[in-house]
Amino acid sequence: MPIDAKRYRLGRLGRVTDLTVAVRPAAEAELPAIVESLEQRLYFTDRLARQRLGRGELLVAWLDGTAVGDVYLRLEGADEDLADLRDAPLLSHLEVLPPHRKQGIGSLLMRCAEAMAWRRGYDRVALGVTEDNTDAIRLYLSRGYALWRPDPIETYREIFREDGTVDAVPDEPCLVYVKRRPVAFIR
Ligand SMILES: CC(C)(COP(=O)(O)OP(=O)(O)OC[C@H]1O[C@@H](n2cnc3c(N)ncnc32)[C@H](O)[C@@H]1OP(=O)(O)O)[C@@H](O)C(=O)NCCC(=O)NCCS
Repeated sequence: MPIDAKRYRLGRLGRVTDLTVAVRPAAEAELPAIVESLEQRLYFTDRLARQRLGRGELLVAWLDGTAVGDVYLRLEGADEDLADLRDAPLLSHLEVLPPHRKQGIGSLLMRCAEAMAWRRGYDRVALGVTEDNTDAIRLYLSRGYALWRPDPIETYREIFREDGTVDAVPDEPCLVYVKRRPVAFIR
């Protein structure tokens, strides 16, 4: 993917920062460094294995050699019943470490994951969020996401086991948001 190793200068009109963050697909050898700051070893081990099989893309934001955030673009079907969204990639597990929030890193991770989906030829991406996560919902709305259906859907949470197996157990209901590929996007 061409976003590999690309560096972005973060800054917004009137709020320029001197942060330089690199977002790139995670390499298997980076697992120890990812887990050192983001923890969740079993989760990242599973996502790297899926990435190897072409089932998804794990993007990590690096700041001075430290992993400070990540997002996973899930290309295989969701556990949930998403009807006409069945074939849309899911943007999931978006997170930025608390000390690094509100500096544009979450937006940058989303922008990179979306660009990856558009380049792969998808014309929509979807994501789920709990109704009470107002910070995240504001971010999604500002990035052009629209509510798919007014009611939350039933969701599943994955439980990762040491032996590499994954179980899906019922989780909190989530609202689903969808973004369409911008007309102006050029592959
Ligand atoms: C949701 C989450 C990923 C957002 O990450 P983030 O890095 O803070 O996101 P951004 O910085 O791009 O945007 C957040 C806000 O900071 C603002 N911001 C961005 N750059 C800024 C800057 N340089 N100076 C001041 N504010 C800035 C954005 O405008 C946005 O404002 P808003 O709160 O009014 O919408 C983060 O809060 C998080 O990890 N939450 C816990 C996990 C979670 O809930 N994930 C989503 C699951 S669905």
